[in-house]
Amino acid sequence: MKFFIDTADINDIRELAATGMADGVTTNPSLVAKSGRDFFEVLAEIWYVVDGPVSAEVTAMETDGMLVEAKKLRDVASNVCIKLPLTWDGLKACRVLTDDGCLVNVTLCFSANQALLAAKAGATFISPFVGRLDDIAVDGMDLISDIRQIYDNYEGLNTEILVASIRSPEHVRQAALIGADVSTIPPKVVRSLINHPLTDKGLADFLADWKKTGQKIV
Ligand code: E4P
Repeated sequence: MKFFIDTADINDIRELAATGMADGVTTNPSLVAKSGRDFFEVLAEIWYVVDGPVSAEVTAMETDGMLVEAKKLRDVASNVCIKLPLTWDGLKACRVLTDDGCLVNVTLCFSANQALLAAKAGATFISPFVGRLDDIAVDGMDLISDIRQIYDNYEGLNTEILVASIRSPEHVRQAALIGADVSTIPPKVVRSLINHPLTDKGLADFLADWKKTGQKIV
């Protein structure tokens, strides 16, 4: 499963890219607002650090406006992935952009039927939001299983499942078990994936025993 980093914070992206954890990046208008940075400036920096797809979301509501914004975003770097909302206008723009060889991430997916539509419109990625479903007491991971099954049922549906709105290591584990293609993960959740108390205890025990030997490796 590929890891995308779900942030517009360049320092987090740099750090995680250095450990090979950044196969791509996703941003959204809220994350850009949180960064307090200029959108194009921050995107240019991200594109310099990460080779994989970097999702940049349009804010126009109609197809023509989305295509104008997409053109401007595509001019910034070659690895841009245009993020479009799951609306009919978004799907129309999706078809035009994918026919033109552009990567497209269709976002704000909350149902299996929406994911089916996005795949038929040629989306490169579909972003189902698991955390926001959990927030309204619907199991977000059930949606990932449904989409996986539907996409696997038909040879022509090649859209990658990009699990979004991830809130915990458990979301990552379940996404990988289901066979999602990508998880986009907030930096703090990526960092927490390594945690295990037995790793910490084992290391402390080894170091204590080594000290008793009085030896040194170098
Ligand atoms: C990423 O593409 C999504 O915009 C993001 O994962 C949404 O996460 P949130 O539900 O925590 O805001």
